[in-house]
Amino acid sequence: MTKKAETDTTTVPQVETVAALRDRVATWRNAGLRIGFVPTMGALHQGHLSLVDYARDHADRVVVSIFVNPKQFGPSEDFDRYPRQLAEDRAKLATVGTDLLYAPSVAEMYPEGFSTTVSVAGVTEGLCGASRPGHFDGVATVVTKLLLQAQADVAVFGEKDYQQYLTLKRLVQDLDIPTRILPGPTVRDADGLAMSSRNAYLSAPEREIALALPRTLTRMVEVLEAGQDDIDAVLRQGRAALQEAGITQVEYLELRDAETLRPVTRLTAPARVLAAVRVGQTRLIDNMAVTPPRR
Ligand code: PAF
Repeated sequence: MTKKAETDTTTVPQVETVAALRDRVATWRNAGLRIGFVPTMGALHQGHLSLVDYARDHADRVVVSIFVNPKQFGPSEDFDRYPRQLAEDRAKLATVGTDLLYAPSVAEMYPEGFSTTVSVAGVTEGLCGASRPGHFDGVATVVTKLLLQAQADVAVFGEKDYQQYLTLKRLVQDLDIPTRILPGPTVRDADGLAMSSRNAYLSAPEREIALALPRTLTRMVEVLEAGQDDIDAVLRQGRAALQEAGITQVEYLELRDAETLRPVTRLTAPARVLAAVRVGQTRLIDNMAVTPPRR
């Protein structure tokens, strides 16, 4: 099904306006091509590039957006220091045959007078929704705009941001946006740390400490899948393991239903163990799938 990317591997065409993006996408659509879309905030790593590959498996042309969205950062968060490296990102996108880079300015995305907020209830409550007030409204607002601008058949979001992925699935369903949301599997470095643009903030000793996060989640998954049914005990042990390894700031460590994100008290359906921690100044999130044991 997939047709060869239009670009060579040295340059990726770039557009900065909604009109230019629509123009390019319309040409492809008129030629009967399927469009895949990977929205990002840049500072691209192998995890993002894997999402481009994944999109290509489901589409003939792949558009990647890079936009550091001010609306999803809280006042004391890292919007100002969030890494911005467009030229480097563009070169990386070329290596995976991206067909188009969309890099709008803040003024293009939120022109003077912009007054709309998109808010998704339910799955956004608790977890990151509790610790980052307004974050998911910012994400839902920008992604609604991006999806309407790109008019893609499929859009891929990483499972590392699992709550975000479920929020966006809900959003397109509720608003009848004709784009299928696909989950891209989390990509990990060889040491197990989930790839994230924010890993760049970690010093070498902090990174060592951060490794306790995937290690602890992996252990919790093993214990739960082996049939331990005292979920509170598993969560307590998980928190203790993080503390012992030097992760003293645990924002949350929870077991939630994989579809609804409701807290799980008995493991009878696919679930997810999810955590957010702070190592030094850096906030890290991670999550892993938990399959209920056969009883
Ligand atoms: O996951 C991200 O990089 C961002 O939250 C997204 C989906 C691109 C919206 O700004």
